[in-house]
Amino acid sequence: MGRLFNVSNRVPLAKTAAPGGLAVGVLAAMRARGGLWFGWNGETTSQEPGEPDITCRDALSYATIPLPQTLYERYYSGFSNGTLWPLFHYFLAGFRYDDQEYAAYEQANALFASRLLPLLAPGDIIWVHDYHLISLGEKLRAQGVSQPIGFFLHIPFPHFEVLRALPTFAQVLRALLAYDLIGFQTETDRESFLGAVRIVLGAQSVGERGIVATGGRTVRTGVYPIGVDVQAVAQSAAKAAGSAPVQRMMQSLVGRRLIVGVDRLDYAKGLLERFQAYRQFLESYPEQIGQVTLLQIAPLGRQKVQAYAQIRDSLEQSSGRTNGRFADADWTPIRYLNRNFPHATLMGFLRAAQVCLVTALRDGMNLVAKEFITAQDPDDPGVLVLSNRAGAACELTEALLINPYDTQGIAGAIQRALTMPLAERRERHATSLATLRANDIHRWHTRFVDDLQAARGRLSSRRGTEPKELTAFRP
Ligand code: G6P
Repeated sequence: MGRLFNVSNRVPLAKTAAPGGLAVGVLAAMRARGGLWFGWNGETTSQEPGEPDITCRDALSYATIPLPQTLYERYYSGFSNGTLWPLFHYFLAGFRYDDQEYAAYEQANALFASRLLPLLAPGDIIWVHDYHLISLGEKLRAQGVSQPIGFFLHIPFPHFEVLRALPTFAQVLRALLAYDLIGFQTETDRESFLGAVRIVLGAQSVGERGIVATGGRTVRTGVYPIGVDVQAVAQSAAKAAGSAPVQRMMQSLVGRRLIVGVDRLDYAKGLLERFQAYRQFLESYPEQIGQVTLLQIAPLGRQKVQAYAQIRDSLEQSSGRTNGRFADADWTPIRYLNRNFPHATLMGFLRAAQVCLVTALRDGMNLVAKEFITAQDPDDPGVLVLSNRAGAACELTEALLINPYDTQGIAGAIQRALTMPLAERRERHATSLATLRANDIHRWHTRFVDDLQAARGRLSSRRGTEPKELTAFRP
């Protein structure tokens, strides 16, 4: 097989924030297959970036470029996180559109393409990750790249009725159709995409197994739910349980039970709803007052996007209200932290908890849900309370599934989790863990890369394959 090029906006080198599930998945693919990871180096400049810097770390190769400051703001805080992120998570209230930001997005994608191009050799395969780089495949094709290019969307894909709120939705669809393989987290996401394609290109364009015929070529689509490295997470959690930070945290609980939440601070994660449900839980089950602690870890990100600053204020108020009302001289109901911890320490916290709360209003997958299950002691496992609007709910059907808008329902699920008999906890955990083992991170990248390679055999001439039909569609 040729070299595998992974491309994402962020790469996990120093000075850049941890990119969550995406990094876990891409790192696993890189460790298994080698190759190179291309992306933004986390810095902004006042000039046009030159050739990429090539770095080798932990036997993995990275090629990175800085981005011009104004371009970066419009591309990252603007179109990526002010437009696509809320739209794809169904938050039309938090969605905005600006022509200049869309132009910057296109420009940033073109810049990535032009700096990646000289690194490519015949036989390489290119795997593009996530919503920041939807147009990258199209830009590479425009530069004459004929190698297979796949795209994986780590976040949800919205139904057409939501997608069409974007004035440039047809261009976004066209850009996606430049790939040879498009991967989604769930069947619902893939169906939303294919539904949009049917409306725009006509029903006949979507064939069996979700293969799209457009402009004389075919585009494959697939569902690849991202998983975790079960063995590595289990080992890391067991080891971290005895580590100083986890032990200190446990001692500070003085025997109280632990409910944990770990989420990047984001309105899509349902943190306000979670805090409200926890308050409801303390009201509905007063015998639990003083008996449990909610540890909510919520590192900050995307602070230049207004919606993120707003949710931060609201969460501070909400946690403050609960603590003001219920706290005692020796007990704080919510420990709310806007900082991050090393991954191993987080796994130790997850293992130490009796309950994990995942209340996302919409989430592509949610790897914390999967990590929590994996991190548990199988002899005495904790219970996962999981939003039915997170991709993980398709697989983790043995979790206590909740509707994140149902405050009383979540409060009841927390109580049920805390009082669940050991035999039931073990049974639910064993079933969930078996599911995670069967579809772990290695299966995720292996299936995607194998399918992308298989797509190569079916490629027809790619030049002049612009899907012209798209321009005919008028919303
Ligand atoms: C989350 C999402 C990923 C996304 C990443 C970007 O982890 O699930 O799909 O790529 O955020 O995070 P950033 O910190 O770069 O905005």
